[in-house]
Amino acid sequence: MKTVAVISQKGGAGKTTLALHLAVAAQSAGVVTLVLDADPQATASTWSTWREAAEPDVIDCASPPLLARKLEQAAALGAELVVIDTPPHADSMSAAACRAADLILVPCRPRGFDLAAVQQTADLVRVSGKPGFVVFTAGPIRAPKLYAEAAELIRGFGLELAPVTMSERAAYHHATGAGRTAGEVDPAGKAAAEVAALWTWTRERVNLSTRQPNKGKAK
Ligand SMILES: Nc1ncnc2c1ncn2[C@@H]1O[C@H](COP(=O)(O)OP(=O)(O)OP(=O)(O)O)[C@@H](O)[C@H]1O
Ligand SMILES: [Mg+2]
Repeated sequence: MKTVAVISQKGGAGKTTLALHLAVAAQSAGVVTLVLDADPQATASTWSTWREAAEPDVIDCASPPLLARKLEQAAALGAELVVIDTPPHADSMSAAACRAADLILVPCRPRGFDLAAVQQTADLVRVSGKPGFVVFTAGPIRAPKLYAEAAELIRGFGLELAPVTMSERAAYHHATGAGRTAGEVDPAGKAAAEVAALWTWTRERVNLSTRQPNKGKAK
């Protein structure tokens, strides 16, 4: 089983949006995927209750010491990939998720305050010793200078940059607000293409093979 932790100390960075889109993309590719909702706000769990499909499973985890046991349970349930969605401003849960992770993704809006806040998250990644990558989220679609400057700052914090972005697109929030993902609502859309690229890159990073696409069970 592989574990991807999605962390950012900054609120509203796009953690839950990224976690859910990645999990659904993996599940659709035939990888048994589980979302571990480690955020007391329970956004991913709420999304799951809005959802018609049963998959991916979303289970909650109330406290950092429980995380390891929840991951053991996920493995026992047959999960091949677990995506951990974490709360903002929660060093202990983010640190526990980093320790458990094979890969850490740090969503970040390519804007001044958000970029400055990444430094704190970068420290958590560094302490864990795990590979961590920033994924730019909710940024403008075409702004090469802004992205180049943001990338330079990120590298200055000692983090790497994922070669994929989730741009500012209404499709992301429209879809999640309906218990779905952008690719499920509009498989040919640009958001779907961004998520497909994110999934392909993540799959290679954690060395997960895929089988036949799985259509998912009805609830
Ligand atoms: N790429 C995107 N394009 C457009 N809207 C986005 C994008 N990513 C996230 N959003 C929107 O930004 C808001 C915050 O996103 P999200 O809830 O995923 O962030 P978060 O980091 O999980 O927040 P929190 O820290 O509160 O858990 C939501 O309304 C979401 O729909
Ligand atoms: Mg969230």
